[in-house]
Amino acid sequence: MKYSENKETLWYKDAIIYEVHIKSFYDSNGDGIGDLEGFLQKLDYLQDLGITTIWLLPFYPSPLRDDGYDIADYYSLNPDYGNISLFKKLIREAHARDLKVITELVINHTSDQHPWFQRARKATVGSPERNYYVWIDHTDKYKEAWIIFTDTETSNWSWDEEAQMYYWHRFFSHQPDLNFDNPLVQQEVLNILHFWLETGVDGFRLDAVPYLFEREDTNCENLPETHQFLKKLRRYVDDHFENKLLLAEANMWPEDSVAYFGDGDECHMNFHFPIMPRMFMAVKMENRYPITDIIDQTPDIPSDCQWAIFLRNHDELTLEMVTDEERDYMYRVYTKEARAKINVGIRHRLAPLLENNRSLIELMNVLLFSLPGTPVIYYGDEIGMGDNFYLGDRDGVRTPMQWNSNKNAGFSTANPHKLYLPVIIDPEYRYENINVENQQRNPSSLLWWMKRLISMRKKYPAFGRGDIEFLTPSNAKILAFTRTYNEDTLLIIANLSRFPQAVELDLEKYAGLVPVELFSRNPFPPIKEAPYLFTLASNGYFWFSIESAKEKVPSEMPLIHLEVENLENLLEGNIRNKLESLVLPHYLLGTRWFGGKGQTIQSVHLSTSIPIRFKSQIFLLNSLRVIYNDYMPEDYILPLGFVSADDKDSQTIPLKAKLATIDPEGIPGWLIDAVYSSEFRSFLFRMIQDSSIIRYKSIELKGDQSQNMIPDQQEPKNRLMDTDQSNTSIIYDEKYFLKLYRKIDAIINPDLEIVRFLSEEKNFENVPEYKGSIHLQEKGQQPMVVAMLQRMVENQGEAFGFTKDMIERFLDNAMSQGDLKHFWPEEKSLTIPLTDEELTDEVNELLGPQALSLMALLGQRTAEMHLALTSSTQPEFQPEYFSKHYQRSLYSSLRSLNRTAMDNLKRILHYLPEELNHRA
Ligand code: GLC
Ligand code: CA
Repeated sequence: MKYSENKETLWYKDAIIYEVHIKSFYDSNGDGIGDLEGFLQKLDYLQDLGITTIWLLPFYPSPLRDDGYDIADYYSLNPDYGNISLFKKLIREAHARDLKVITELVINHTSDQHPWFQRARKATVGSPERNYYVWIDHTDKYKEAWIIFTDTETSNWSWDEEAQMYYWHRFFSHQPDLNFDNPLVQQEVLNILHFWLETGVDGFRLDAVPYLFEREDTNCENLPETHQFLKKLRRYVDDHFENKLLLAEANMWPEDSVAYFGDGDECHMNFHFPIMPRMFMAVKMENRYPITDIIDQTPDIPSDCQWAIFLRNHDELTLEMVTDEERDYMYRVYTKEARAKINVGIRHRLAPLLENNRSLIELMNVLLFSLPGTPVIYYGDEIGMGDNFYLGDRDGVRTPMQWNSNKNAGFSTANPHKLYLPVIIDPEYRYENINVENQQRNPSSLLWWMKRLISMRKKYPAFGRGDIEFLTPSNAKILAFTRTYNEDTLLIIANLSRFPQAVELDLEKYAGLVPVELFSRNPFPPIKEAPYLFTLASNGYFWFSIESAKEKVPSEMPLIHLEVENLENLLEGNIRNKLESLVLPHYLLGTRWFGGKGQTIQSVHLSTSIPIRFKSQIFLLNSLRVIYNDYMPEDYILPLGFVSADDKDSQTIPLKAKLATIDPEGIPGWLIDAVYSSEFRSFLFRMIQDSSIIRYKSIELKGDQSQNMIPDQQEPKNRLMDTDQSNTSIIYDEKYFLKLYRKIDAIINPDLEIVRFLSEEKNFENVPEYKGSIHLQEKGQQPMVVAMLQRMVENQGEAFGFTKDMIERFLDNAMSQGDLKHFWPEEKSLTIPLTDEELTDEVNELLGPQALSLMALLGQRTAEMHLALTSSTQPEFQPEYFSKHYQRSLYSSLRSLNRTAMDNLKRILHYLPEELNHRA
């Protein structure tokens, strides 16, 4: 199925999830506890990071003996964090930024403080109220169920004085398990789920979901009854809501895990627990086997389902799903201190686990972002936060987010003693050093690297949706696999070793295609039938897309849709982001006038934008700054406008003029380059004719009419000259010619200055008369020339083209007569040219009748122009002395121009059509 067809319903496949607790993110009122108000203030940070989905850890009223997983009321918020109306605001604000929000549905157990439990212990034995929980008067039942929190619990049964019975609990003894055999309990769960989906949440993580039912002679996990109930839950969600997600937390071996997808009728997603420790094992053992083996053991899943994968989360790095030997190995290599162990796992964040080794942190994230599944990032790991296992339980990995080097890491203004948990002050990870602000400032920081990784992943749906196929090179330290989705294939290569490695990959089935490195867009040598040799730095990695040598024509790609109410929305928040990151780079590459096609675009920004209202229309005139990977930034002019699909003129607008689909005020149509709008072209003329000024914020757009006034007249007819040029030309009434500059400099535009000087000051006849211009200026900056208007000169082509044709004809004719040498007397050379009198009749004849007089005229006009220019008293037009230094520096700059051109040619050689490739 096409990507665009189920983008909405299968959003979780393309998601990047960010797991975070409200209390840990940002404290807005200085009470030491993070809250919703604070969270709202940090939404922009999450948007900038690029994640698509926020997973909020439990925020309900709770005694907080299990960090909120011990719920005392399902229908409100812990007042320290906020209230329902703020929560709804969070959902709205998140959605406005294109972020989804999922929350926790903790239904296996409640807190013992929950009114249901308080009621149950007092209720009569056998009553529905008592039976909200699981009771018994001896502890012999369900003996096969193992204990999860081995550090604190010795039994899954605890005695209750009030009830005079034992109650069942798979986790802490203060967390009694709900009794799912009681239909009232099942109904309660549906009510809770309905309530939260109504607030707008996009889905739930189903906490501890394998343990819902208990049956004798089983380990009380993954029971058929549990699956039946989950199907019921799913049906309920599907019947009442759209595009909601159920994500199971089932810490199980793969074959038991897949059961939670049912036949596509249970959970949409499920965590792949076993793969997590194996990624850590693989990089320590420097061997791909743990990863390939567990994926081989993982059955296929229904097509609409998806794994969630993660490196770290709010719990310990659990080692329940590994063999005994593997567990010993993991403890040995990943715990330096015994204190780091907890239950059946290790309580560490990502950076400390990996000894703060940047290459390893990158490599592990590369695996997380390219193995099958949706990646989940744990808050703080994007900046490499440290941990503190002295804090007890798993609190060491739940400390406040580190925003800056101010007091309390910028998390709170409270007295440090008042913080819900202390910030990290360990010398290696202290917040003064590891924080968002520091890393935002440094483009080489982990945070920036993560942003690039995230944005790259979002560009290729194959990461979230593709099939996986492992390659089997003999070097086992290399993990290599492809991800294929529809026509797209990605190749991922990871060096699991701390030393550099070479690897030969059998890529025969892609012979003839080219691996293009994703971050740089550098094409590697084409793939042949023979094995392809790659070398990788220690813990190095590659992301390639396997492409055909011919570049995709941009117009073949579907247009992106931008959600706007009006054109000005394009300048705001998320839409602006989308426009800048997805629409503009792609559009520029398809235009004739964009000069940076040989370069790799890093980013495009709208630097100056001014809304224009003209007649009934709105346009946006913009200057863009294009930043390249290894070239100086450039600025371009791009006016934008809207054309509705109903508009009869829209038929005549070519595909290359369209940037995106939009529907302002509900009217579907396209965002176009406004030069394709006749209204906009009229506007440009009027700007000059009326010498108008438009101001917007600190920006000024100014029309300027020359002394050789344009007669006041009816609105002239206009047309776009659709020749592909580096600027855009518009003709008015066949009398005026407007050049809209595309690539601009915020310094003097010589084209305009010379034309203007020659026609206004010198009345120089041989340049089309200057009629006016338009400038765009941001306060305090140099004005930029947007357009110049000139008198139009009827012509049969330009002298340049004419001369070129003439010479080509001459050479063809001359060569057909054999040796060219006899046309040139020996003693002549480039510096001692022939004069026209010295030309033989034969040459004259071959050149054609007008050639000589035309050349003479060209020479004469050029000389006249130079004379006119030098006669100026303006310093800009004074002749410059051509010194030896000047000559030398000109030579150097020509050489470097030549080198860049050759380098660029070399880089795109593979993409050229065969005939051209040959000539190049
Ligand atoms: C899940 C949570 C964990 C919690 C447990 C009991 O495993 O991830 O944090 O302690 O459930 O609710
Ligand atoms: Ca607070």
